[in-house]
Amino acid sequence: MPITADSSSVTITHPDSPQSSVKILHYGATVVSWKVKGDEKLWLSESSKLDGSRAVRGGIPLVFPRFGPPGSHPATDKLPQHGFARSSIWEFLGEVNPTTVQFGLGPENLDADTKSAWDYDFSVIATVELASPSQLNVSISVENTDRKPFDFNVLFHTYYKVPEVEKVSLEGFTELKYYNKVKDSNDESGLQPITIHEEFDRVYRSTPDVAVIKFDQKPLYTVENSKSLTDTVVWNPWTVTAEKMTDFAPKQGFHHMICVENGNVAGFTTLKPEEKWEGSIAIKSHI
Ligand code: BG6
Repeated sequence: MPITADSSSVTITHPDSPQSSVKILHYGATVVSWKVKGDEKLWLSESSKLDGSRAVRGGIPLVFPRFGPPGSHPATDKLPQHGFARSSIWEFLGEVNPTTVQFGLGPENLDADTKSAWDYDFSVIATVELASPSQLNVSISVENTDRKPFDFNVLFHTYYKVPEVEKVSLEGFTELKYYNKVKDSNDESGLQPITIHEEFDRVYRSTPDVAVIKFDQKPLYTVENSKSLTDTVVWNPWTVTAEKMTDFAPKQGFHHMICVENGNVAGFTTLKPEEKWEGSIAIKSHI
């Protein structure tokens, strides 16, 4: 059976490779596991809650309709950090084909507090496809079913599992402007491929549609995003921040992860009534 479901999750197994699978929780429509020929490709904290009591620390949480902490955007400022999509229970809409499933989120799935904090009619659909035994595609469509426009951010907050982050480089980002969240400094730019040896939290703007995550100079993952996703957040908490996070385990786990997060977060996207927006990522694992 390529697709199996229980009350809280759905698993797709690739018909040509029983060792390749992806598991998605109803909670957040969060991808919590992606195995390629038996090897896990996503980092998941050992102490992450998976019971719907807290956003998942690992996998691919979906950030919508705001990125980051409440700030200077009144329409989304009553929402928690990274919005409500990752901490809401989505409806499993079923399978599209033997390797593709969909989940839906609308105001009917929100609790009363969240609904009053973001009072719009909307329909969000997340589609997860195990496109091949070594490729995972995830997409989101956002539709404004209200009579007034709304603003939103979207981010695929992907935690890639890597053998050792200090030997990882991220190519394709040279000379791009970024906001350095660690230093709260805007418009920095760098010439080298990205490497990580300390806390790293940057929002790169106008990023290319393809990024290659390498380990020891060899491609580990190639990530291709739709043109609608203009920005990429690169994050690793390193020692001090990992220590502070109660759901981050083991504490040295930051050595084995890098978040490369495709999205629309440098500014808000405005969607008018009846308009629809789509964004997607396609991740290829090379090893
Ligand atoms: C990243 C942000 O996207 O998410 C970081 O750039 C943040 O600043 C990280 O710390 C994790 O956020 P959270 O809400 O899951 O702890």
